[in-house]
Amino acid sequence: MTGSRRLNVVVGISGGIAAYKAVNVVRALVLEGHDVHVIATDAALRFVGKPTLEAISRNPVNSDLYEGVAQVRHVSIGQAADLIVIAPATANTLAKLAHGLADDLLGNTVLASTAPIVVAPAMHTEMWGNPATRANVALLRTRGITIVGPASGRLTGEDVGAGRMSEPDDIVRAALAAVDGAGADSAAVPAASTPGAPDADVTAPSSGDLAGFRVLISAGGTREPLDPVRFLGNRSSGRQGVALAAAAFERGASVTLLAAHLEVPVPEGVAVVHVQTAAELEEAARDHAQRSDLVIMAAAVADYRPAGVAEQKIKKETAGDRVTLELVRNPDILATIAAERRDGRVVVGFAAETAADEDELVRVGRAKLERKGCDYLVLNRVGWSLGFAAEDNAVVVVQRGGDIVMEASGSKATVAHRILDAVHPALLPRA
Ligand code: CTP
Repeated sequence: MTGSRRLNVVVGISGGIAAYKAVNVVRALVLEGHDVHVIATDAALRFVGKPTLEAISRNPVNSDLYEGVAQVRHVSIGQAADLIVIAPATANTLAKLAHGLADDLLGNTVLASTAPIVVAPAMHTEMWGNPATRANVALLRTRGITIVGPASGRLTGEDVGAGRMSEPDDIVRAALAAVDGAGADSAAVPAASTPGAPDADVTAPSSGDLAGFRVLISAGGTREPLDPVRFLGNRSSGRQGVALAAAAFERGASVTLLAAHLEVPVPEGVAVVHVQTAAELEEAARDHAQRSDLVIMAAAVADYRPAGVAEQKIKKETAGDRVTLELVRNPDILATIAAERRDGRVVVGFAAETAADEDELVRVGRAKLERKGCDYLVLNRVGWSLGFAAEDNAVVVVQRGGDIVMEASGSKATVAHRILDAVHPALLPRA
């Protein structure tokens, strides 16, 4: 147990404004009795001074790859480490770690080490949501590296969003847990794939502003069968819902995804329940919503289903030249979940509208929010060449009462984080 063992801890600090908070990471580790060796990149030393880090760590600070060459320091520091903590990890550092670059002392140390590695990213929301960063983080997770945070909140400038470095105490706790073999990041847990998967299969990192929250997200588009080979469907790819699931998981939530014919893979760490039709989605959603703090209905649900499903394939010879389909209304799942919610559960709907402009979009959205009775409605404009299967999205979020609380555009990952930022204030605080 780390509680009784003095660890040799390397704290890597890279060049972001959060480097000043890394001083408290070093301090907390020293106060816990560990031997702490700081490796600061050149950029980190522009944000925080070497004397500060040396005084707090009680050891010389290493930054230059070409100092102490006789002691082969570029490998010896990593070989001696019991634990490596990198805080803050900038987008650039994450990219270098993901690709095994060794153009500085920190990169060499990481490559030369077999110790657990714990990384606390810090950057602006757009950089965190960028597909390159997302891919790098996913790659690091597959190698068993623990990712702590980032949290959401005030960033360097006036902006607010995901990307803030986690609090030093949270980083230290996750780092020491990683040595004990109980890493804070559980992305390695396989996604459950059977309908009605028990919630015990759902796991989450213990850090992040959604830690302790259970989030249910529907994504994709339902299909309503006509006969054994045909269905009525829609053009939803599920990308935005999947991006929301990934974002919620990264922020510490236990996430269950109700997946209706997704065109994109399910993110790691997220439990998945596959559904086909609106009826199946309704059953799964109502069941899982009971155990959820936040429900986001991003799936495109068929409003109507064929009145009857043919047992055999419909044949032209019997159907003739003109066929009339009789359709019946499907239940409104979002409205049902909103009506059944209690105990502070937050319910969010989506509405893709073919509005002429943003004013019309918001007008239609306000009326729909009122009708559905949900807490927030995420609106976007769609058309023949707008919205579906695109990599980017542009949304407006309205809340109960009709106020616009957020407008965002960018990658679906960026938009996902902004949506979570917008609805987060409505969640009851966790103990
Ligand atoms: N939705 C649902 N159940 C349905 C239809 C829609 O839960 N039967 C949810 C969607 O998941 C989405 C929201 O309701 O979160 C809005 O979907 P939309 O299709 O825009 O709503 P409709 O009520 O079908 O409105 P419209 O008549 O404009 O199509």
